Amino acid sequence: MKRFQKTLALALTAALAAGALSGCGSDGDDRTIVRIGHNQSTNHPTHIALTAFEEYVESKLGDKYNVEVYPSELLGSQTDMVQLTQTGAIDFCVASNSILETFSDNYTLFNMPYLFASSEAYHAAMDDESITDPIFESTKKAGFEAVTWIDAGTRNFYTVSKPIESPADLKGLKIRVQQSPTNVEMMRRLGGSATPMGFGEVYTALQSKIIDGAENNEMALTDNGHGDVCKYYSYDMHQMIPDILIGNCAFLDKMPAEDRAVFEEGFKLVNQVEREEWVSAVENAKEKAANEQGVQFFYPDTKPFQDICSPMHEAVLEAHPDLRPIYEKIQEKNAEYPSAAS
Ligand code: GCU
Repeated sequence: MKRFQKTLALALTAALAAGALSGCGSDGDDRTIVRIGHNQSTNHPTHIALTAFEEYVESKLGDKYNVEVYPSELLGSQTDMVQLTQTGAIDFCVASNSILETFSDNYTLFNMPYLFASSEAYHAAMDDESITDPIFESTKKAGFEAVTWIDAGTRNFYTVSKPIESPADLKGLKIRVQQSPTNVEMMRRLGGSATPMGFGEVYTALQSKIIDGAENNEMALTDNGHGDVCKYYSYDMHQMIPDILIGNCAFLDKMPAEDRAVFEEGFKLVNQVEREEWVSAVENAKEKAANEQGVQFFYPDTKPFQDICSPMHEAVLEAHPDLRPIYEKIQEKNAEYPSAAS
């Protein structure tokens, strides 16, 4: 993150944590301010979708609510923002499912490598409330709940000095992963050295060679500049990890039912708009990475990666038996929408 942004973020986060910013506007504006934080740029599908939410809610309830969307980690890292949402210092934030694993074990499920057989199976599973509800509601006691999911594509390895064409190529490389036990374990099994850190720190870590690579969707190459440093992107397809829009429970529960109905429509809109934007955003990112940043794309055989990671499924289910029935439902989606390769 640029220094100015970081200073602003720190000041805002400190003010929010201290409760210095009141929930109502000033100058006789008694609308409730609804603060939503996320860590992407203003070009990103997530920001476009949250702006659609802001417009929708204000078009229906603009006399009561003033929705403010804070992009680019202005309210801190995802971990900071989840904590701010938990306490009600802000009302909503977008967090990767990986980060939520450290707040509730149930989120471990969607972080498993090679959980979904295809993007169709992934979408069908995430759209099925009998699969998502038990996970999304599991943090209510902790003060927040998930209100919708957001597509974040497929995560793949990308590196500074050589392409990853088989798991053996990861040996000895320091690879940034999100801060979740599942991701660290995945890297351990694949033979690389996991370096967990927040998203905003990755560019500098790559540039200064603290790490040899990272893993993410294609947008990270362009929107976050990682493709300026990493010229090899390999489609090993290890995870499809959704982003999750979470909301403060006290804020949601105290809202009158008719307002809540509008917010619920708004949450659906976030999911729809982001998914529509995502398809072209990824195509554009790939084209820009190849043509302007000189990134090369590789399509290794994914089976050796998958064979190494698959035993993690049983290990997670043994540690968290409650997740097994939901895992079985995901397998039904996988059977319905198998991988194109199978
Ligand atoms: C993706 C994802 C973010 C996440 C980031 C990361 O960009 O959409 O929610 O923070 O990956 O790797 O940390």
